[in-house]
Amino acid sequence: MTILSINGESHTIDAPPDMPLLWVLRDLVGLTGTKFGCGIAQCGACTVHLDGQAVRSCVLPIAAVGERKVTTIEAVSTTPAGKQVQEAWLALDVVQCGYCQSGQVMSAASLIASNPNPTDADIDAAMAGNICRCGTYNRIRAAVKHAAKGA
Ligand code: FES
Ligand code: FES
Repeated sequence: MTILSINGESHTIDAPPDMPLLWVLRDLVGLTGTKFGCGIAQCGACTVHLDGQAVRSCVLPIAAVGERKVTTIEAVSTTPAGKQVQEAWLALDVVQCGYCQSGQVMSAASLIASNPNPTDADIDAAMAGNICRCGTYNRIRAAVKHAAKGA
């Protein structure tokens, strides 16, 4: 058994300790906003927060989570930076198919929380691991800036 703090609630998880967090979130806890893309830490679709830091949940065994707090896209709006990012995403109509977007929002929220006034280079560095097959990169960068202004 592994006890995880997910979106402010304690969950007792009956799964092998090497099961990736993404599987637990989606299949055992029912939080399907976090997406599976590549499974090898290359696309960012599975991004969640551990104590506010963006991490790739597809390669993170639940045994490595420990007491750190997991936040997923379903609860990112409970943080000021997450709320700001979601509002900016809507204001600038960032989303196309949407598949990559929960991961994009999680990376952006982590960036804004730690760096309220990011430069273009900061944004590029923070968002580089999040792939968008629809090519929404220009709108993503604009929305991060929009969110930063309101943060
Ligand atoms: S599914 Fe985790 S980085 Fe692609
Ligand atoms: S919006 Fe379609 S993959 Fe990014």
